[in-house]
Amino acid sequence: TLSARTLPALADYITKSGTCKKIVIMSGAGISTSAGIPDFRSPDTGLYANLARLDLPYAEAVFDISYFRRNPHPFYTLAQELYPGRFRPTVAHAFIRLLADRGLLLKHFTQNIDCLDREAGVPEELIVEAHGSFARQSCIECRRAFPHDEMLRHVQAATVPRCLNETCGGLVKPEIVFFGEALPNEFFAHAMLPREADLVIVMGTSLTVQPFANLPRAAGRGTPRLLINLEQVGGLGGREDDVLLLGDCDEGVRKLAKACGWSEELERIWRE
Ligand code: OAD
Repeated sequence: TLSARTLPALADYITKSGTCKKIVIMSGAGISTSAGIPDFRSPDTGLYANLARLDLPYAEAVFDISYFRRNPHPFYTLAQELYPGRFRPTVAHAFIRLLADRGLLLKHFTQNIDCLDREAGVPEELIVEAHGSFARQSCIECRRAFPHDEMLRHVQAATVPRCLNETCGGLVKPEIVFFGEALPNEFFAHAMLPREADLVIVMGTSLTVQPFANLPRAAGRGTPRLLINLEQVGGLGGREDDVLLLGDCDEGVRKLAKACGWSEELERIWRE
């Protein structure tokens, strides 16, 4: 437990107590907004508030599997804009890398599909992409894998790829988890890890989408939980050892790094 619900007390716990060895991070779109990728639910800037041009029945339809089966075009219009490769990791990603470098990162659970954590150098085996990613693509009918370079061509042209198995011909989609699809096995295989954590950090997520939203609750009662987010979410702040850093993610991790004496290291990693 912490001596107080303040940043200095948390920094002492991390750097001086000798008991904070396993940190679990749970993140969402808010850690990537400063890279230029919109989040989903922020009122004016979020993706869902800016999809009028796609003429959808409701905003989330663009990521809904039954809607996609009927009309895959809106998704491929959006994929052109969201496809990884054009964005640079943020300070928040650099902080996750710093924890990994220091051997403190037990797992990074992310809902993001932008692969910016990998790009920041967080080892792949420490990342759980709970909502999948653009890293692989396959046919939604026969599950046959689809070549990456072909996908790139379709995304750039905003055309809809079809299964290369001609007897199938099903729609191909990046292995992003759509509404109506199951999360990857890897998520369920690790969903109890927060129990083993010495510290949980929740950053840049509204915690509205299940089952991801339940992860912070899996942490033990005596485990400190830090929320770095523009708004208070998911009941964080309700436990005795919850610490809230309400504000921008990059600013929040910079404050925490400073309190830990890691500022230079963080900026070096970020500039790399
Ligand atoms: P949301 O858009 O729901 O939430 C983003 C959260 O980050 C909000 O609470 C924002 O206030 C906060 N935020 C935004 N910018 C920030 C910043 N610079 N610093 C700090 N906080 C910031 O995004 P997610 O929680 O990631 O799923 O959404 C969860 C899932 O819903 C996504 O993975 C996606 C979406 O539908 C699928 O597509 C399956």
